[in-house]
Amino acid sequence: MAYFVNGNAFFKAARKGHFALGAYNTNNLEWTRAILQAAEETRTPVLIQVSMGAAKYMGGYKLVKDLVADEMDSMKISVPVILNLDHGDYEAAKECIALGYSSVMFDGHNLPVAENFDKTREIVRLAHEKGISVEAEIGKMGENQGAFNGELATVRDARAFADIGVDKLAACVGNIHGIYPANWPGLNFQRLRQIAAAIDTPLVLHGGSGIPKDQVCESIRCGIAKVNINTEFQQAFQRATRAYIEAGKDLDLTTKGYDPRKLLKPGTDAIVSAMKEMISWLGTPTIDELTAMELENQEIDRDDMPAYAQR
Ligand code: 13P
Repeated sequence: MAYFVNGNAFFKAARKGHFALGAYNTNNLEWTRAILQAAEETRTPVLIQVSMGAAKYMGGYKLVKDLVADEMDSMKISVPVILNLDHGDYEAAKECIALGYSSVMFDGHNLPVAENFDKTREIVRLAHEKGISVEAEIGKMGENQGAFNGELATVRDARAFADIGVDKLAACVGNIHGIYPANWPGLNFQRLRQIAAAIDTPLVLHGGSGIPKDQVCESIRCGIAKVNINTEFQQAFQRATRAYIEAGKDLDLTTKGYDPRKLLKPGTDAIVSAMKEMISWLGTPTIDELTAMELENQEIDRDDMPAYAQR
């Protein structure tokens, strides 16, 4: 029976050992299967996450949880899987805690910082009662194609949020969700280093798609332990699907190229390849390598299934 781990031990080990785990957004059944397949084939633990919008599209948080768990069973997934709510508001975070997600991000970055702080503290309390991991966000992310119209996180806020026990902190350092424009000035490593020097909490890099490899690697050396990827896989899927259609394969009636199982396969395979490439960028260790490390809590012991994982 599938169950989810909260991943805290992995992210602490990642911060300490200067590697990262990818956090891969699912958008539908094909995405879910591709992410699980790439994780299993590389023998690496995986964080699969869903945004509020994608969960709505797919049929709700419970459906997403059941889908991931059922695919884990049917695909015989043997590597640890973390199920995370990505950019949840207060209500969504509470709903996913109640449902038994093993990790939630409460994103209060649009709220006044004091309200973000209070609500994050409440989510931490509710989640930790059930052994669920919490990610918070400070500063403001840039959005699709803006050079960087966000707001850098401050060291003061990072300290305050670390003190209330968030397990992972998304601190904005010039990163942007979606497509980076040509005139993007790059990540602000000075601010990232200052934050990393002030707190031990594993740090999260949102908007991981499209950041040059050397900057991704440098951010991991600075303290990034989780790198979020969504757009990269959407584009990989789109390119492969476009190539299939442009080659006229969907029109081939003899091979039934119009069958969605055929039509969606090149894109799905492209996600698997893109994820394997990302795993190599991030230096994500295999589960055997992780087991050999001294993790702070041995949550990967499968005989010790936490309460939230029961389903
Ligand atoms: P990208 O879509 O830019 O990869 O960002 C993903 C992300 O940060 C999800 O939280």
